[in-house]
Amino acid sequence: MIDLRSDTLTHPTQSMRDAMAYAEVGDDVFGEDPTVKKLESLAAEKTGKETALFVPSGTMGNLISVLSHCGRGDEILLGDRSHISLYEVGGVAALGGVHPRPLRNNNDGTISLDLLEKGIRHADIHSPPTRLICLENTHNFCQGSPLTPEYMTQVGDLANKYGLKIHLDGARIFNAAVALKVPVAELTEKADSIMFCLSKGLSAPVGSLVAGSSTFIDKARKARKMVGGGMRQAGHIAAAGLIALNNLIDRLQEDHDNAKFLASQISKIDGIEVDETRVKTNIIFFKLTGIDGEVFVDTLAKNQIKILMTDPGIFRAVLHREVSKEQVTTVIETFRSILGKA
Ligand SMILES: Cc1ncc(COP(=O)(O)O)c(C=O)c1O
Repeated sequence: MIDLRSDTLTHPTQSMRDAMAYAEVGDDVFGEDPTVKKLESLAAEKTGKETALFVPSGTMGNLISVLSHCGRGDEILLGDRSHISLYEVGGVAALGGVHPRPLRNNNDGTISLDLLEKGIRHADIHSPPTRLICLENTHNFCQGSPLTPEYMTQVGDLANKYGLKIHLDGARIFNAAVALKVPVAELTEKADSIMFCLSKGLSAPVGSLVAGSSTFIDKARKARKMVGGGMRQAGHIAAAGLIALNNLIDRLQEDHDNAKFLASQISKIDGIEVDETRVKTNIIFFKLTGIDGEVFVDTLAKNQIKILMTDPGIFRAVLHREVSKEQVTTVIETFRSILGKA
């Protein structure tokens, strides 16, 4: 099976499995798990932040970050195609009483600076106070676009001007760093907090990290406990995260190359629309005409290929460690054959 539905489908490597089995562990709620501590300090070092916190998922990392920056009735500005806005069950509102104000995302994952500035509320009896700007890098539903350090600086200046904080949903921040050929710390410098995932292209079975100042992480640690994310001998899973951060970052380039190859080849097939110039990391979106979307997905499945239809006629393919260039060629040939017969 060639599974292009998500990079979360990656299985742990053999060295991760070995490290998990023999990890040195302790009770992390008591602050006594040495492997978790090691992972948290490596995460802080990579993101250029004072300290970091291991959490079970990206969704929890984003939620506790917002809860730590904001109180009930505060407002956050975020992209209308952002993961927090669309796919996190409205947790910031449901659990934190925080009001999300979605602003239009451009195709490159940015939110225009003038839109952001106009979105900031000023003291008025009718308005919730704006506290936080949330950005996403890479931007999943904007074709995996990486946000640049220049854009981060511009948003940082705006946030400073109005006394706002920035939270970065960096679920795939290492893909952004590899694509832009910059250290992750350059992409996180202007953010007050960052969440990144180990469980996506980095291939760990589970886990994300939140990084920021020690005052912020103290609050986030308490919020993590409140939402049930305090883990005990979590070193077993942190051990896989250490391997992800130490050994599996550079190879993300292979996934980006495969994504570009796939986009460049399927763009030549009649009935497929894809803007290959927008493919910068491991995520491709394309549009199909001339064949019913469900029929396409079913026919692919019969050919041992899985893909996600995100909207009628719109598909997402995500490249990852378990899809080789040879398998990408098989995917291209299968697309050609199905659409040739449609
Ligand atoms: C951009 C982004 N943020 C956050 C998440 C949430 O991560 P998790 O599935 O670990 O909760 C995802 C998951 O796909 C994501 O793509």
